[in-house]
Amino acid sequence: MPTPKTEDLRPKNHDLKTRDRRPSVHDTPNDSFLPAMSAIAREAGALLLEYFRQKLKIEYKGDADLVTAADRASEALIRERIAKQFPSHDVLGEEQGLNDRGGEYRWYVDPLDGTTNFAHGYPVFCVSLALERRSGADAKRISAVVYDPSRDELFSAEQGKGAHLNGGPIHVSKITQLKECLVATGFPSHKRHKNPNIHFYHQITLRTHGVRRAGSAALDLCNVACGRFDGFWEFNLNPWDTAAGVLIVEEAGGKASRFDGSPFQLDSRETLASNGLVHDALLHEFQEIFAGRGLDPLPDPRVYHSER
Ligand code: IPD
Ligand code: CA
Ligand code: CA
Repeated sequence: MPTPKTEDLRPKNHDLKTRDRRPSVHDTPNDSFLPAMSAIAREAGALLLEYFRQKLKIEYKGDADLVTAADRASEALIRERIAKQFPSHDVLGEEQGLNDRGGEYRWYVDPLDGTTNFAHGYPVFCVSLALERRSGADAKRISAVVYDPSRDELFSAEQGKGAHLNGGPIHVSKITQLKECLVATGFPSHKRHKNPNIHFYHQITLRTHGVRRAGSAALDLCNVACGRFDGFWEFNLNPWDTAAGVLIVEEAGGKASRFDGSPFQLDSRETLASNGLVHDALLHEFQEIFAGRGLDPLPDPRVYHSER
């Protein structure tokens, strides 16, 4: 399928003179990148949906690490839109890597988060875009959008200005007890035999209302931001998986860290996000699991089967 023709997607507030339009409650300041980012994410999401309706050939980047023409077309579209509107901005995208000209702004692009779901026809996937401003050694993510085209849900956030879902403010949940939480995790497709997460999945399942494994880290984070989940963790995520979702969680009043409680960084190989209120309880459980304490052993399925 060809990449759609280039259109001018300059930020909405730059397109129209103030006298030409009525102010809206969803208006953002003139220097906001969000209107442009949202338009690009929506366009890439619509492209993904077109591909979703077809049977696509699956290719493999690793054992179970899938990629499709949709991943590539979505990233090509996003890069083309960024290059046209923001030619000085750098981009780190999952499929094409980093073009680094040492610019002030860098985009983190996951053109299709949830490729395995997508390739199997399971409608849980999204486009994830984050924008970082860099000044010397200092780098700050300033805005983020995650768009789920199947549900037509656009999550967004700007640093210091809160988080939104389809224009309305969102907040993390108010649950304080781990035993009342619904949480989420994910399992990597790369080197999965070396990943210890099944132990975490087991233990946290026994201590909460349940653990969901939906297959899109960016959407898992957004679901923490809007209170559907109370926490999320995963090992070995990449910057394009987390850059947008973590800012959206933080702007929705939540917290992100590594598994020892130290600050989350984009290159952290550990991501724990929560409503903030159950963060310490999750950290405590993680420390217990790492230390091998109080681990309820995994039940032997042969015994379970014979006892029924
Ligand atoms: C994957 C998804 C999944 C997570 C994997 C990621 P991709 O991203 O976010 O939920 O468990 O670790 O690699 O490959 O679909 O962009
Ligand atoms: Ca991803
Ligand atoms: Ca991806």
